[in-house]
Amino acid sequence: MELKTILGYLKDKIILVTGATGFLAMVFLEKILRVQPNVEKVYLLVRAPDTNSAKDRMHNEIIGKALFKVLREKLGADFDNFISKKVVAVPGDVTFENLGVKDIKLREEMFNGVQIILNSAATTNFDERYDIALDVNTFGVLHLLSFAKKCLKLEMLLHISTAYVCGEREGLIPEDLSSFMDEKVKGTTKFNFQVQEKKVVEEKLNDLKAEGASEENIRSTMKDFGIERAKLYGWPNTYVFTKAMGEIFLENSKGNLPLVIIRPTVVTSTYKEPFPGWIQGFRTIDSVIAGYCKGKLTCLLADPMSVFDMGLKFVNKASGQYFEDIYVNYSRKLTLVMRLVELYKPYMLFKGIFDDSNSRELQKLTSECYIDAKEFNFDPKCIDWEDYIMNTHIPGLRKHVLV
Ligand SMILES: NC(=O)c1ccc[n+]([C@@H]2O[C@H](COP(=O)([O-])OP(=O)(O)OC[C@H]3O[C@@H](n4cnc5c(N)ncnc54)[C@H](OP(=O)(O)O)[C@@H]3O)[C@@H](O)[C@H]2O)c1
Repeated sequence: MELKTILGYLKDKIILVTGATGFLAMVFLEKILRVQPNVEKVYLLVRAPDTNSAKDRMHNEIIGKALFKVLREKLGADFDNFISKKVVAVPGDVTFENLGVKDIKLREEMFNGVQIILNSAATTNFDERYDIALDVNTFGVLHLLSFAKKCLKLEMLLHISTAYVCGEREGLIPEDLSSFMDEKVKGTTKFNFQVQEKKVVEEKLNDLKAEGASEENIRSTMKDFGIERAKLYGWPNTYVFTKAMGEIFLENSKGNLPLVIIRPTVVTSTYKEPFPGWIQGFRTIDSVIAGYCKGKLTCLLADPMSVFDMGLKFVNKASGQYFEDIYVNYSRKLTLVMRLVELYKPYMLFKGIFDDSNSRELQKLTSECYIDAKEFNFDPKCIDWEDYIMNTHIPGLRKHVLV
């Protein structure tokens, strides 16, 4: 068999990335630009009212970040020129049709050119307002899908989901969740499921407005409403429920589209590239680590026998780290603490083990078929997890987040 290269595949490609001001997509962007400078173009869909604001966000919140320092050093004086040639900031929003891209010429250019789409845009708050989470994580995916279908040269739609679309489960959790998802939403066809949730949200908002509810009241009611709807269907929180609905719609409506769904577990800082320990903002596990380091969170309820799963970079991995030595103290701010306990409990006491056969199969195939597979290594077995947490992740958190 003729050996191919991943870099060769990426050469001359036109890529659209959503969610690039976020952690995961930013790491993706940096890697592509660093290892394959001959990528043709990368469009970044950025929430902004106009092109100039989108450009500003791109420079301040993406390219200007420390993550790009290796690329900046590599290119020296050519860096700015390289970025302006290769990266295009597109003002938009996944909650709108055509991803909110208003410039018709630019939209046509994208429909005619884009070959790969990475959809990383999401709202990742576990208890986001239901109307917002539904708009971004569920209907946003549908807008993305219809945009993708208009891209004449599309080779791959890469959608970032989450491993926890599985809900609360025990034992081995298969990667093919379709029968499980079908069972969860049984009694509701894909069509009425979609219409129904939109309708209940509209009704709820109308009722609140009719009652003259304040903005704060609407916000907290819609947050609670999301959790209520999620639990009604069997998911623990609004985030995973709306992500799961996004996946269901994607599966049901993808047609012939070449679709890859990646389900990371808990994403932590970079392992080695472009340098160890880069992270942006507090991720799920990091609020716990930071609270513990600052002495604010002395204890946290957890099952010491639960397997804690962390996925680095792109692919969901079973890493099997045990969380021990952390117990809960409920003395202050009881209501807030109880809410956090409710939100995190399903994960701290999670009894499932993710089957990673597909990921392992992918590792095997890439190493057999691509000469440069090592440059894109995603085998978690090569990681000394204790060393990584103590000497890479926590120092990275202190340097890049707790500053
Ligand atoms: N981080 C994890 O541990 C983890 C684990 C499993 C799965 N995931 C999944 O991985 C993906 C990326 O996660 P992340 O940690 O990188 O998230 P993140 O840092 O919270 O970033 C989310 C991104 O989505 C963008 N976004 C939100 N609403 C949008 C909208 N309406 N239109 C366009 N863009 C919008 C945000 O833009 P703004 O800057 O404008 O807000 C931001 O760029 C998500 O799909 C998430 O569900 C993450």
